[in-house]
Amino acid sequence: MRIILLGPPGAGKGTQAHLLIDNFHIPQISTGDMLRAAVSSGSETGNKAQAIMKTGNLVPDDLIVTLVRQRIAEADCANGFLLDGFPRTLAQAQALVDADIQVDYVLCISVPYDAIIQRLAGRRVHLASGRSYHLTHNPPEREGLDDLTGDKLIQREDDQEETVRKRLTVYEEQTEPLIGFYKDQDKKGIVNYREVFGIGSVEEIKNRLIKSVND
Ligand code: AP5
Repeated sequence: MRIILLGPPGAGKGTQAHLLIDNFHIPQISTGDMLRAAVSSGSETGNKAQAIMKTGNLVPDDLIVTLVRQRIAEADCANGFLLDGFPRTLAQAQALVDADIQVDYVLCISVPYDAIIQRLAGRRVHLASGRSYHLTHNPPEREGLDDLTGDKLIQREDDQEETVRKRLTVYEEQTEPLIGFYKDQDKKGIVNYREVFGIGSVEEIKNRLIKSVND
């Protein structure tokens, strides 16, 4: 099973990705997590990406397409994968087509913007795994600590309100056009495009996403 998870920043893509990969037994490929790992490593790519991510803009298509193509070529992706945060531009979606990488499902999580602002303001993350929590909606078992490792949770640099607003504008301008692109591919029978409402409990949304694939 090859899945793309689409949706605005804070829609719950990362939260749901962790649950869906267990259900479908496929690896998660999160471009945001890959970039944050590069930033933590202090590599040249990481330093370049950090400056861009801080502003809420997207990193260049060629950089991210190379990272994703290399990751998809790894052995654990042979039976499928879940793309979280990629593609994010029409050029990135076209790069998948050009590389002959077919996708079975495009699942788009929709959430109103006022809920997104509130979700991102209260988000705390475990950087090493990409697990995310929310101070009130989805708190860790022990305050400020990751449930599985006990490591300290942090607030992401790009979760400041002003940067979140910039990320939403970038989403509208550069990523939303993908919805039309994949609806068109759905009509042609190339992918299955499904929209899922992202308000409700994490469990409810997981069930909606799984049902949308099984229907
Ligand atoms: P990335 O890390 O991909 O960020 P994003 O797409 O903006 O998405 P988020 O991680 O912010 O949100 P999410 O949808 O995963 O929500 P989450 O599950 O955490 O990208 C970051 C940056 O990297 C980009 O801005 C860009 O610069 C760069 N980048 C990445 N990919 C790129 C690409 N392909 N091309 C170019 N640049 C790229 O949930 C959010 C919060 O809500 C959490 O606190 C969570 O606990 C809570 N929550 C989740 N579900 C619920 C629920 N049902 N009810 C209440 N709260 C909930």
